[in-house]
Amino acid sequence: MADPGFVKVAQVSEIKPGEMIAVEVDNEQVLLANVNGSIHAVDDVCSHAYASLSEGELSGEEVECPLHGGTFNVTTGEVLGPPPDEPVRVYKVQIEGDDILVGPANA
Ligand code: FES
Repeated sequence: MADPGFVKVAQVSEIKPGEMIAVEVDNEQVLLANVNGSIHAVDDVCSHAYASLSEGELSGEEVECPLHGGTFNVTTGEVLGPPPDEPVRVYKVQIEGDDILVGPANA
């Protein structure tokens, strides 16, 4: 059974290493990224303006926003490159078999 507050959102096999997808959790758009086989979840909506980070480019732990090229670390939510100056939220992730479950955001 999933822990309270965690919901199944996707299958690990849907996201290859180096790829990302967007899912909806409680009316929030969440980006799921596979970094070297480990799944990470952050806000899909950029903290700078309204853009979907999952439509940008993932390189290692770094996602580049498609709108103005800001970059974030998908494991910590931190800004790596401007123009954004606010991090994106990181969500807790659990893996059960092939299921990806997303829990509450860290902040
Ligand atoms: S909207 Fe993402 S960098 Fe501007």
